[in-house]
Amino acid sequence: MANAWSDLRDKCTQCKECQLFEKRTNVVFGDGNPMTDIMFIGEGPGEQEDIKGRAFVGPAGLLLDRYLDYIGLDRTKIYIANIVKCRPPQNRDPLEQEQEICMQWLRAQVRLIRPKIIVCLGRIAAKKLIGPDFRITVDHGKWFERGSFHIIATYHPAALLRAPDKKGEALDDFLEIEKKMNELGLFGKED
Ligand code: URA
Repeated sequence: MANAWSDLRDKCTQCKECQLFEKRTNVVFGDGNPMTDIMFIGEGPGEQEDIKGRAFVGPAGLLLDRYLDYIGLDRTKIYIANIVKCRPPQNRDPLEQEQEICMQWLRAQVRLIRPKIIVCLGRIAAKKLIGPDFRITVDHGKWFERGSFHIIATYHPAALLRAPDKKGEALDDFLEIEKKMNELGLFGKED
């Protein structure tokens, strides 16, 4: 298992399959506990993530940590990754083609982790993992079953920083996640 992870990380960090590699400082592979039952999936690295090579370490990540804490989770209990592993210039939305190429890495991560719950952070991840018709303002906080996964989406923490009036709805979404964890008997197990 350790080998599978290091092989995957090596391949991913050398990837030059789409144009995003040209401007990246670091590939942001993903971080957290690979033995977890709960994965969080964002959209793509921002400026701080690109500099540090770690997922959700900028202002949006700080807010995410507060939501995790609200339901008794922290970075040691979850795994966090993105749809695209390299920063899109000026934080633009990743293009469909960039997402499709990069999904090979996320699919491999999901195969290794086999999470029970997947939480999409924001519309880009939700459209990719739940379905193209997903509308974040209407469909956040609802559960979708995809194969063996329970999938839910909430607002992206960067969107909450721009629209603080949505923070209450996001808290409710996290309470839904806590409820599902309890139903499934998951307590964010550690290594
Ligand atoms: N936004 C994301 O979607 N992912 C990160 O890692 C950071 C900000």
